[in-house]
Amino acid sequence: MSDPLWQQALLDQDLKSGQVVKVSVAGMKIMLVRLEDGTVTAASPICPHQGEDLTAGKLYMGAIDCPRHHYLYDLHTGENRYPRNVFPVDLAVRLAPLRLYPTKIEDGWIWFQASRKR
Ligand code: FES
Repeated sequence: MSDPLWQQALLDQDLKSGQVVKVSVAGMKIMLVRLEDGTVTAASPICPHQGEDLTAGKLYMGAIDCPRHHYLYDLHTGENRYPRNVFPVDLAVRLAPLRLYPTKIEDGWIWFQASRKR
């Protein structure tokens, strides 16, 4: 029996390398990204800083660059890369990461696990 937390999101063939897609599944909006190394990531499309739509951002070295203030979220860890490197340490540690969801490719589909953090 399959795990009910896994949600079918998109045909694997419909997400090309370097592509960012937003899908709606079971009432959730999810950003799917296929990185240059082939890794598929499922993440919240909402920037943790001030809510910008990250699907309008650009991919940059395994991260998504928010189009509003250019915070850079690592798509392997969710970590906010850019301010961590330039902000004072006490401020940088309070920056919220991007929420990521576990993903898998199975039966030609991209799946994400809806309610557990990666
Ligand atoms: S809203 Fe995304 S960096 Fe500010």
